Amino acid sequence: MSGLPRSTAMGNDIAIIGGTGLTELEGLSVLSEDLMETPWGTPSGPVLRGELRGQPVLFLARHGHPHRIPPHQVNYRANLWALREAGASRIIGVNAVGGITPDMGPARIAVPHQIIDYTWGRGHTFFEQVGGATLEEVTHIDLTWPYEESLRQALLAAATRRKVMAVDYGVYGATQGPRLETAAEVVRMERDGCDLVGMTGMPEAGLAAELGLSYACLALSVNWAAGKSDHIITMEEIEQTLAQGMSGVKAILEAVIPA
Ligand code: HPA
Repeated sequence: MSGLPRSTAMGNDIAIIGGTGLTELEGLSVLSEDLMETPWGTPSGPVLRGELRGQPVLFLARHGHPHRIPPHQVNYRANLWALREAGASRIIGVNAVGGITPDMGPARIAVPHQIIDYTWGRGHTFFEQVGGATLEEVTHIDLTWPYEESLRQALLAAATRRKVMAVDYGVYGATQGPRLETAAEVVRMERDGCDLVGMTGMPEAGLAAELGLSYACLALSVNWAAGKSDHIITMEEIEQTLAQGMSGVKAILEAVIPA
């Protein structure tokens, strides 16, 4: 791809980026760990190459392991670059989110189809100068459909096979964090068309598209978004729902590989 630092990676592997509640993939037998340096800096941790139920898979913990990198400080560029270097061509991002619209309550799993990006100040493109090199040309990638449909459908089919309920749509609103939203912000997001709110969906999806990687999101709602319930959001509530809902997410991941 012109304008990007050169890479020879030509893989066909599937990779999982684990978010909050998924810093480790149980059942993954790790064959190798590779902590890479990339032209965009250091990823959140090593890329693990292993097997899940006998099938090859790559895994990277988005927030590090242990969980220590907040959403606005994740080096999304290094993460995507490292996964591509490791041979990934398809990426499943697992994200904990808040539910805005009625179908998206706590413990619900969704495979979103669209994104609205409210983040700012993050390293969000590969198409800018790096390390003294100049850009050959300015590139604007298409992001009409931010999630790759066949990978979305593979996730939904895996959910059906494992009898895990998964909502087959959702507009993911990506906020800056690490604070949660105000009730008025959530009202605005709903008016904009968002069904879900999370802090890590972007720039990850856009960067995957810039690298020509297929990308889809498996979202687990861990709370009603601010103002959508009669109580404030606590970390205890989030952690409890994560523990409850992650088994469904893992079942889908096991069934989707190889997609
Ligand atoms: N807002 C933003 N990100 C989140 C939320 C939320 O309510 N819950 C989990 N991640």
